[in-house]
Amino acid sequence: MKIAVLGGTGLIGSQVVKKLNAAGHEAVPHSPSTGVDVISGQGLDDAVAAADVVVNLTNSPTFDEASPAFFQTSMDNLLASARNGAVGHVVILSIVGADRVPELDYYRAKVLQEKILAAGPIPYSIVRATQFMEFMDAVLSWTADGDTVRLPATPIQPIASRDVANAVAEVAVGAPLNGIRNIAGPEIFSLDELGRMTLSRKGDSRTVITDPAAGMFALVKGDVLTDTHAHLAPTRYADWLA
Ligand SMILES: NC(=O)c1ccc[n+]([C@@H]2O[C@H](COP(=O)([O-])OP(=O)(O)OC[C@H]3O[C@@H](n4cnc5c(N)ncnc54)[C@H](OP(=O)(O)O)[C@@H]3O)[C@@H](O)[C@H]2O)c1
Repeated sequence: MKIAVLGGTGLIGSQVVKKLNAAGHEAVPHSPSTGVDVISGQGLDDAVAAADVVVNLTNSPTFDEASPAFFQTSMDNLLASARNGAVGHVVILSIVGADRVPELDYYRAKVLQEKILAAGPIPYSIVRATQFMEFMDAVLSWTADGDTVRLPATPIQPIASRDVANAVAEVAVGAPLNGIRNIAGPEIFSLDELGRMTLSRKGDSRTVITDPAAGMFALVKGDVLTDTHAHLAPTRYADWLA
């Protein structure tokens, strides 16, 4: 199967490309560094022209109010190019519970991306993942101040990027879902607890202070970012940290 992986140089995209090629498919990574830009449209027609499947793993450069425009423009351009080719399946990676936190610009942007895809003419699959384990360092950096990091107790079900890549690759070569598949890590933690585990494992002496008003996840009310009925991935956070 010929598969164009947009964002194929990123954290998830690079692993998806490797898995698909190892399984005997012909997966090609695309990104600005290979001359393909989903915003300007440069190189996009050629990138998807011969593809049976397009997997879109691009990401907005910021998580702020500019992110909806990124996902709107990139999906409009992608669907226009895919229509010109013979693409029979478009796959995107979104976020479990994104529709339940409209207060976050980035989550609204991901829901917009899903809606554009679902309303378009091409059979599709939406994989929604929980927060990547690899994302924890960024979360810790947002509210770090000297010897402390402030984090709310938001329930989080972290998933390893390799498990996400496995799930995306599996969906990409299957029949279009024309719907959503939720994937999640095997355990739920509170974000402050995850922060403490992470710092302790890294020998980082900073203290995590539980603060319901700290950082982006303060806007998340209740356990809307977790899903115990999702496809559960195998990797546990402590094993991943080790
Ligand atoms: N973080 C989470 O916990 C989480 C959870 C669920 C879903 N997701 C979703 O997972 C997806 C992949 O995330 P990731 O962490 O793998 O992203 P990433 O590592 O930041 O990679 C983003 C990729 O997009 C490419 N890209 C950026 N701007 C582009 C443009 N204008 N045209 C073409 N390609 C462009 C990048 O190319 P360069 O390398 O050349 O910059 C890179 O290959 C995102 O859509 C994100 O919303 C994330």
